[in-house]
Amino acid sequence: MSNKIEVPLELAHITLKNRVIRSAVHSFLADKDGYMTEAEYQMYETLAKNGVGTIITGHCCVDPRGRANPEQVNIYEDSFAEQFRRAAAIAHAADVRFIPQLSHAGPRAIDQDDLADVVARPLKKDREARMLTLEEIQAIEQRFIAAAVRLQATGVDGVQLHAAHSYLLSRFIDPTFNQRTDIYGGCVENRFRMTERIICGIKEACGETFPVLIKINLDTKAEDHASYHEDMVWILQRCRALGVELVELSGVDFINQPRTDTLYYLDEAKILKAAVPEQPMSLVGGVRSLDDMDNVLGAGLDAVSLGRALIAEPDFVVKQLSGGEPSVCVSCSRCFVLPHMHPGIRCVWAWKAEKARQKAARTTEA
Ligand SMILES: Cc1cc2nc3c(=O)[nH]c(=O)nc-3n(C[C@H](O)[C@H](O)[C@H](O)COP(=O)(O)O)c2cc1C
Repeated sequence: MSNKIEVPLELAHITLKNRVIRSAVHSFLADKDGYMTEAEYQMYETLAKNGVGTIITGHCCVDPRGRANPEQVNIYEDSFAEQFRRAAAIAHAADVRFIPQLSHAGPRAIDQDDLADVVARPLKKDREARMLTLEEIQAIEQRFIAAAVRLQATGVDGVQLHAAHSYLLSRFIDPTFNQRTDIYGGCVENRFRMTERIICGIKEACGETFPVLIKINLDTKAEDHASYHEDMVWILQRCRALGVELVELSGVDFINQPRTDTLYYLDEAKILKAAVPEQPMSLVGGVRSLDDMDNVLGAGLDAVSLGRALIAEPDFVVKQLSGGEPSVCVSCSRCFVLPHMHPGIRCVWAWKAEKARQKAARTTEA
């Protein structure tokens, strides 16, 4: 009998061959000009052949003023589009869906002197961000829409908007960051306006059937959690009305969760899914075993998303389905820094496990 994670998921305009999504993970594998390298294509091929049903790319920058990393894949000009055709074809060859994630880093942009945020605020290292003007906000909205149009032509299966983890769209949504007093601030309708205008703009330009997904924080650092919960229910209902194909629920601070914890967002995700059952949703964060995946689906979520477990072991899903041990990942997040220090090593725990395995093999041979 097949496991729950192997059951196909029929969304409004796309069917996923199973319930497992590779969540967006910045790969550190693009070149400095914003293009995928052979290593990046190889990574997608390995993932596609090893059990995930859908691959969401690492965040791709829609605006030269919003790059988060020097080795980020870009999509802010036509010249960046063709690389996605090859990557999508690699995934499609394994019957896997391929969905680029679109993002703008806002005040976390790396190569700007003139940093802008939802409101003016002090940043790290004695820097200040100024407030985005209405014209600038609307220009960024157009950047997201133009990126989706470019990508649609390459045969990708949709796009995901990065509206989580303190990137620009999430800063508009979260009242901790957004204290504007114009049409983009205040009530949840206003705070969600930028994301909504992008969703509508993409649907208008690419057609109603082109899948638009979003990744969003189900929590906030603001003190009023009850109010943010109400905001989330409203946003999920709005997503449903706007035809968002799938909402991937994440959290504002996945990096600082206790290492021993798994599924740290599940309780809230379950409540949100029960509140808006008609909106397809996936959950990401702390999924480390087949039991965890089953628990996410058992809580009513439609799909389960994985980040670091697939960095540690790209074949994690097939291993789990054949009775493998839980992931070696302990959410230490050293995978953010290792690529800079030790090229080729992504997960220190997987590396240690492999060394131990090799040593044991040598001992047996001797
Ligand atoms: C190295 C690294 C890069 C990431 N890059 C992205 C990204 O580009 N976009 C995004 O939405 N989330 C990104 N994330 C977050 C993951 O998608 C995921 O939400 C998070 O790691 C929690 O899930 P996990 O416990 O399964 O890892 C990244 C995480 C890591 C560790």
